[in-house]
Amino acid sequence: MRVQVEMTEQLQDYVESVSPDEPGLMRELRKRTDELPLRLMQVSPEEGQFLNVLVRALGVRRAIEVGVFTGYSLVSTAMALPEGGVVVGCDDNPEWTAIAMEFCERAGVADKVDMRLGDAVATLTQLVESGAAGTFDFVFIDADKENYGAYFELALTLLRQGGLILVDNVLWHGAVIDESAQDDETTALRAFNLRFRDDARVELCLLPFADGLTFAVKR
Ligand SMILES: C[S@@+](CC[C@H](N)C(=O)[O-])C[C@H]1O[C@@H](n2cnc3c(N)ncnc32)[C@H](O)[C@@H]1O
Repeated sequence: MRVQVEMTEQLQDYVESVSPDEPGLMRELRKRTDELPLRLMQVSPEEGQFLNVLVRALGVRRAIEVGVFTGYSLVSTAMALPEGGVVVGCDDNPEWTAIAMEFCERAGVADKVDMRLGDAVATLTQLVESGAAGTFDFVFIDADKENYGAYFELALTLLRQGGLILVDNVLWHGAVIDESAQDDETTALRAFNLRFRDDARVELCLLPFADGLTFAVKR
Protein backbone atom coordinates (compact mmCIF):
# COMPACT_ATOMS: atom_id res chain seq x y z
CA MET A 1 0.00 0.00 0.00
CA ARG A 2 1.25 3.49 -0.84
CA VAL A 3 1.17 6.38 1.57
CA GLN A 4 -0.41 9.37 -0.15
CA VAL A 5 -1.76 11.94 2.25
CA GLU A 6 -5.10 13.50 1.30
CA MET A 7 -4.73 17.29 1.20
CA THR A 8 -7.74 18.47 3.17
CA GLU A 9 -8.38 22.17 3.83
CA GLN A 10 -7.25 21.73 7.46
CA LEU A 11 -4.06 19.99 6.40
CA GLN A 12 -3.41 22.76 3.85
CA ASP A 13 -3.82 25.31 6.67
CA TYR A 14 -1.33 23.31 8.73
CA VAL A 15 1.17 23.23 5.83
CA GLU A 16 0.90 27.01 5.55
CA SER A 17 1.35 27.43 9.31
CA VAL A 18 4.67 25.55 9.28
CA SER A 19 5.94 26.93 5.94
CA PRO A 20 7.94 30.15 5.60
CA ASP A 21 5.65 33.18 5.41
CA GLU A 22 4.95 34.32 1.87
CA PRO A 23 7.05 37.47 1.39
CA GLY A 24 4.97 40.69 1.40
CA LEU A 25 5.84 41.48 -2.21
CA MET A 26 4.74 38.04 -3.37
CA ARG A 27 1.49 38.43 -1.43
CA GLU A 28 0.98 41.71 -3.22
CA LEU A 29 1.64 40.05 -6.59
CA ARG A 30 -0.92 37.36 -5.74
CA LYS A 31 -3.46 40.05 -4.80
CA ARG A 32 -2.80 41.94 -8.03
CA THR A 33 -3.19 38.73 -10.05
CA ASP A 34 -6.47 37.96 -8.24
CA GLU A 35 -8.01 40.86 -10.17
CA LEU A 36 -7.44 39.05 -13.49
CA PRO A 37 -9.98 36.61 -14.98
CA LEU A 38 -7.24 33.99 -15.54
CA ARG A 39 -5.81 34.29 -12.03
CA LEU A 40 -5.94 30.52 -11.49
CA MET A 41 -2.99 30.14 -13.89
CA GLN A 42 -0.68 31.45 -11.17
CA VAL A 43 1.50 28.93 -9.31
CA SER A 44 0.76 28.43 -5.59
CA PRO A 45 2.93 29.99 -2.85
CA GLU A 46 4.24 26.48 -2.04
CA GLU A 47 5.28 25.95 -5.65
CA GLY A 48 6.98 29.35 -5.72
CA GLN A 49 8.87 28.49 -2.54
CA PHE A 50 9.71 25.08 -3.97
CA LEU A 51 11.18 26.68 -7.11
CA ASN A 52 13.22 29.02 -4.95
CA VAL A 53 14.67 26.12 -2.93
CA LEU A 54 15.24 23.95 -6.01
CA VAL A 55 17.09 26.64 -7.95
CA ARG A 56 19.32 27.34 -4.94
CA ALA A 57 19.93 23.64 -4.24
CA LEU A 58 20.95 22.96 -7.84
CA GLY A 59 23.16 26.03 -8.01
CA VAL A 60 21.36 27.14 -11.17
CA ARG A 61 23.04 30.07 -12.95
CA ARG A 62 21.21 30.01 -16.28
CA ALA A 63 17.48 29.27 -16.33
CA ILE A 64 14.58 29.47 -18.77
CA GLU A 65 10.93 29.91 -17.86
CA VAL A 66 8.33 29.03 -20.50
CA GLY A 67 5.09 30.73 -19.38
CA VAL A 68 5.58 33.80 -17.18
CA PHE A 69 2.05 35.19 -16.70
CA THR A 70 2.29 37.88 -13.98
CA GLY A 71 5.63 36.56 -12.72
CA TYR A 72 5.11 34.59 -9.51
CA SER A 73 7.39 31.72 -10.55
CA LEU A 74 9.73 34.09 -12.41
CA VAL A 75 10.34 36.29 -9.36
CA SER A 76 10.72 33.15 -7.17
CA THR A 77 13.35 31.80 -9.58
CA ALA A 78 15.18 35.10 -10.11
CA MET A 79 15.44 35.68 -6.34
CA ALA A 80 17.20 32.32 -5.99
CA LEU A 81 19.82 32.97 -8.68
CA PRO A 82 23.35 33.95 -7.69
CA GLU A 83 25.02 37.20 -8.72
CA GLY A 84 25.46 37.12 -12.51
CA GLY A 85 22.69 34.53 -12.93
CA VAL A 86 19.97 34.90 -15.55
CA VAL A 87 16.49 33.60 -16.23
CA VAL A 88 15.10 33.94 -19.75
CA GLY A 89 11.34 34.55 -19.44
CA CYS A 90 9.24 33.45 -22.44
CA ASP A 91 5.67 34.68 -22.84
CA ASP A 92 3.55 36.21 -25.60
CA ASN A 93 1.36 38.47 -23.46
CA PRO A 94 2.64 42.07 -23.04
CA GLU A 95 0.18 43.09 -20.27
CA TRP A 96 0.93 40.16 -17.98
CA THR A 97 4.69 40.32 -18.53
CA ALA A 98 4.63 44.05 -17.75
CA ILE A 99 3.27 43.16 -14.30
CA ALA A 100 5.97 40.47 -13.99
CA MET A 101 8.70 42.99 -14.82
CA GLU A 102 7.26 45.53 -12.40
CA PHE A 103 7.54 42.99 -9.58
CA CYS A 104 11.02 41.88 -10.71
CA GLU A 105 12.09 45.54 -10.45
CA ARG A 106 10.55 45.87 -7.02
CA ALA A 107 12.20 42.62 -5.87
CA GLY A 108 15.55 43.97 -7.09
CA VAL A 109 16.07 41.12 -9.57
CA ALA A 110 15.21 42.76 -12.91
CA ASP A 111 18.90 42.63 -13.92
CA LYS A 112 18.68 38.82 -13.73
CA VAL A 113 15.67 38.62 -16.07
CA ASP A 114 15.92 38.48 -19.86
CA MET A 115 12.27 38.80 -20.93
CA ARG A 116 11.49 37.57 -24.45
CA LEU A 117 8.03 38.57 -25.66
CA GLY A 118 6.59 36.33 -28.38
CA ASP A 119 5.72 32.77 -29.21
CA ALA A 120 7.81 30.58 -26.90
CA VAL A 121 8.60 27.92 -29.53
CA ALA A 122 10.06 30.69 -31.71
CA THR A 123 11.97 32.19 -28.76
CA LEU A 124 13.53 28.85 -27.78
CA THR A 125 14.35 28.10 -31.43
CA GLN A 126 16.07 31.51 -31.70
CA LEU A 127 18.08 30.70 -28.57
CA VAL A 128 19.27 27.45 -30.16
CA GLU A 129 20.09 29.24 -33.42
CA SER A 130 22.04 31.92 -31.55
CA GLY A 131 24.42 29.23 -30.25
CA ALA A 132 22.97 28.79 -26.74
CA ALA A 133 22.52 24.99 -27.01
CA GLY A 134 23.93 23.14 -24.00
CA THR A 135 24.33 26.30 -21.91
CA PHE A 136 21.34 26.23 -19.52
CA ASP A 137 21.03 24.52 -16.13
CA PHE A 138 17.26 24.58 -15.65
CA VAL A 139 14.05 24.96 -17.70
CA PHE A 140 10.59 25.39 -16.15
CA ILE A 141 7.74 24.62 -18.57
CA ASP A 142 4.36 26.15 -17.65
CA ALA A 143 2.76 27.51 -20.86
CA ASP A 144 0.29 26.20 -23.47
CA LYS A 145 -0.11 22.46 -23.02
CA GLU A 146 -0.38 21.72 -26.76
CA ASN A 147 3.27 22.77 -27.17
CA TYR A 148 4.69 20.86 -24.18
CA GLY A 149 6.34 18.27 -26.46
CA ALA A 150 8.04 21.00 -28.54
CA TYR A 151 9.14 22.88 -25.40
CA PHE A 152 10.58 19.69 -23.93
CA GLU A 153 12.58 18.91 -27.09
CA LEU A 154 13.95 22.46 -27.30
CA ALA A 155 14.71 22.46 -23.57
CA LEU A 156 16.70 19.25 -23.99
CA THR A 157 18.79 20.94 -26.68
CA LEU A 158 19.33 24.07 -24.58
CA LEU A 159 20.28 22.22 -21.38
CA ARG A 160 23.76 21.12 -20.43
CA GLN A 161 24.27 17.50 -19.46
CA GLY A 162 22.85 17.06 -15.94
CA GLY A 163 20.49 20.03 -16.40
CA LEU A 164 16.89 19.77 -15.18
CA ILE A 165 13.54 20.26 -16.92
CA LEU A 166 10.55 20.80 -14.63
CA VAL A 167 7.11 20.50 -16.24
CA ASP A 168 4.00 21.82 -14.49
CA ASN A 169 0.36 20.65 -14.62
CA VAL A 170 1.02 17.15 -15.92
CA LEU A 171 -1.99 15.78 -13.97
CA TRP A 172 -4.25 18.64 -15.16
CA HIS A 173 -6.54 18.59 -12.11
CA GLY A 174 -7.01 14.85 -12.62
CA ALA A 175 -8.47 15.28 -16.12
CA VAL A 176 -5.74 13.07 -17.61
CA ILE A 177 -7.61 9.98 -16.31
CA ASP A 178 -11.09 11.26 -17.16
CA GLU A 179 -12.12 9.51 -20.39
CA SER A 180 -14.77 12.14 -21.06
CA ALA A 181 -12.13 14.91 -21.16
CA GLN A 182 -11.14 15.03 -24.82
CA ASP A 183 -10.20 18.72 -25.18
CA ASP A 184 -6.91 19.71 -26.83
CA GLU A 185 -5.07 20.52 -23.59
CA THR A 186 -5.93 17.27 -21.82
CA THR A 187 -5.19 15.20 -24.93
CA ALA A 188 -1.84 16.97 -25.34
CA LEU A 189 -0.89 16.33 -21.71
CA ARG A 190 -1.77 12.62 -21.99
CA ALA A 191 0.43 12.38 -25.08
CA PHE A 192 3.22 14.35 -23.41
CA ASN A 193 3.18 12.11 -20.31
CA LEU A 194 3.72 9.01 -22.45
CA ARG A 195 6.06 10.51 -25.04
CA PHE A 196 9.16 10.96 -22.88
CA ARG A 197 8.52 8.23 -20.29
CA ASP A 198 11.09 5.83 -21.76
CA ASP A 199 13.29 8.40 -23.48
CA ALA A 200 16.94 7.37 -23.09
CA ARG A 201 18.06 11.02 -23.18
CA VAL A 202 16.56 11.71 -19.73
CA GLU A 203 16.13 10.29 -16.25
CA LEU A 204 12.55 11.12 -15.37
CA CYS A 205 10.04 11.07 -12.49
CA LEU A 206 6.54 12.42 -11.91
CA LEU A 207 5.72 13.92 -8.52
CA PRO A 208 2.03 14.19 -7.56
CA PHE A 209 2.63 17.61 -5.97
CA ALA A 210 0.42 20.62 -6.75
CA ASP A 211 -1.06 19.87 -10.23
CA GLY A 212 1.60 17.23 -10.99
CA LEU A 213 5.25 17.97 -11.75
CA THR A 214 7.50 16.00 -14.06
CA PHE A 215 11.25 16.20 -13.45
CA ALA A 216 13.65 15.20 -16.21
CA VAL A 217 17.42 15.30 -15.90
CA LYS A 218 19.36 15.36 -19.17
CA ARG A 219 21.75 12.42 -19.37
C1 LIG B 1 -0.02 28.95 -16.61
S1 LIG B 1 0.49 30.54 -17.11
C2 LIG B 1 2.07 30.68 -16.37
C3 LIG B 1 2.00 30.89 -14.87
C4 LIG B 1 3.28 31.40 -14.29
N1 LIG B 1 4.34 30.42 -14.34
C5 LIG B 1 3.10 31.91 -12.86
O1 LIG B 1 3.90 31.60 -11.99
O2 LIG B 1 2.14 32.64 -12.61
C6 LIG B 1 0.82 30.27 -18.83
C7 LIG B 1 1.45 31.43 -19.58
O3 LIG B 1 1.88 30.93 -20.84
C8 LIG B 1 1.73 31.95 -21.80
N2 LIG B 1 1.64 31.33 -23.14
C9 LIG B 1 0.68 30.52 -23.61
N3 LIG B 1 0.96 30.13 -24.87
C10 LIG B 1 2.15 30.71 -25.19
C11 LIG B 1 2.97 30.68 -26.34
N4 LIG B 1 2.66 29.95 -27.42
N5 LIG B 1 4.11 31.38 -26.33
C12 LIG B 1 4.47 32.11 -25.23
N6 LIG B 1 3.73 32.16 -24.11
C13 LIG B 1 2.58 31.47 -24.08
C14 LIG B 1 0.47 32.69 -21.39
O4 LIG B 1 0.50 34.01 -21.91
C15 LIG B 1 0.54 32.62 -19.87
O5 LIG B 1 1.08 33.79 -19.34
